[in-house]
Amino acid sequence: MLKRELVNLPTTRYLGSKQKIVSWIWDTIQDMEFDSFLDLFGGTGIVGYVAKLHGKEVFYNDTLLFNSIIGKAIIENNEEQLMSDDVDFILRKHNFEYPSFIENKFKDVYFTNEENKWLDIVITNIKHIENKYKQALAFYCLFQSCIRKRPYNLFHRKNLYVRFANVKRGFGNKTTWDTPFDVQFKEFVEEVNNLVFDNKRENKSLNHDSLKFPQEISADLIYIDTPYFSAHSNIGVDYKDFYHFLEGICEYDEWNDKIDNNSKHFRLKKEKTVWEDKYLIHTAFDTLFKKFQGKIIVVSYRSAGIPSEEEMIALLKKYKTNIQVVRKEYKYALSNNDGKELLFIAT
Ligand SMILES: C[S@@+](CC[C@H](N)C(=O)[O-])C[C@H]1O[C@@H](n2cnc3c(N)ncnc32)[C@H](O)[C@@H]1O
Repeated sequence: MLKRELVNLPTTRYLGSKQKIVSWIWDTIQDMEFDSFLDLFGGTGIVGYVAKLHGKEVFYNDTLLFNSIIGKAIIENNEEQLMSDDVDFILRKHNFEYPSFIENKFKDVYFTNEENKWLDIVITNIKHIENKYKQALAFYCLFQSCIRKRPYNLFHRKNLYVRFANVKRGFGNKTTWDTPFDVQFKEFVEEVNNLVFDNKRENKSLNHDSLKFPQEISADLIYIDTPYFSAHSNIGVDYKDFYHFLEGICEYDEWNDKIDNNSKHFRLKKEKTVWEDKYLIHTAFDTLFKKFQGKIIVVSYRSAGIPSEEEMIALLKKYKTNIQVVRKEYKYALSNNDGKELLFIAT
């Protein structure tokens, strides 16, 4: 066991983040026999990070590029930190040629003109950083700052006006939204530097579609936390739509070609996934369970979803002999419905 306290990841909200229940998840699985841990739908990285804290060899994976960069910064990276001269380089204007892509394309969409200009400069500077871990740390701070400055912490609507509307707000925090980017950025530098440590393992951050995850990379325990499909609203969560702006930042030079210009908020062109299709989602789980049948499989599941709890158990039983269901009551911050959080543990 590492002599290190669990340092909280940034309080910035990410849809479906297990930050509030990660201790419960860890307590539930820690006595099982495993030395390596694959966080297949890694998101914020909090679950894989806790596995890293406990000395496991961790593979983090997420299909979104910006998330895999987060994984690189806090899971794969065992030692690099951002020093004050790095931060100075990132935040200062140099003799580079600075594009004005965000300033032109996203005028009045998510951030103010000044903020958009700042983004074009800082992204260009970060792209000039040669050390890949320092670059990942810098992107990490940039993504967190962008999320924190957004009403609802999402990019699902053209709603910059919400920040300036003279109405009583039942959500969000105007002071946070209006705190300048560079101030937020520096706060995250301090936070992320504190997250970096060496657990003496070769941890990896990957960027694969879970169904095509390379067979040759394997771990003793596979943790599966797919996007939630609500039976109640009959829709699944489209992460690429909610966070497209961060994904665009990662592909800054090609961003313009990837945008769906018919959408008011200039999202990336849609690619429908099996996790948003209630007719394909059962087969998708089946494929995953088959693929990882030789391993310990742990699935995070929220009640009232598709597949149902019974269907999930039946799918797991096709490949595993022992299925345990562990329950926790948990209220989701971004939802009015109470969800019951479950873990399926299949050995
Ligand atoms: C429920 S969230 C995971 C939350 C994570 N456990 C945490 O605590 O932050 C689901 C994640 O799956 C990712 N995802 C969606 N489709 C995927 C796919 N086909 N393969 C891998 N990751 C995928 C999303 O980008 C999202 O970050």
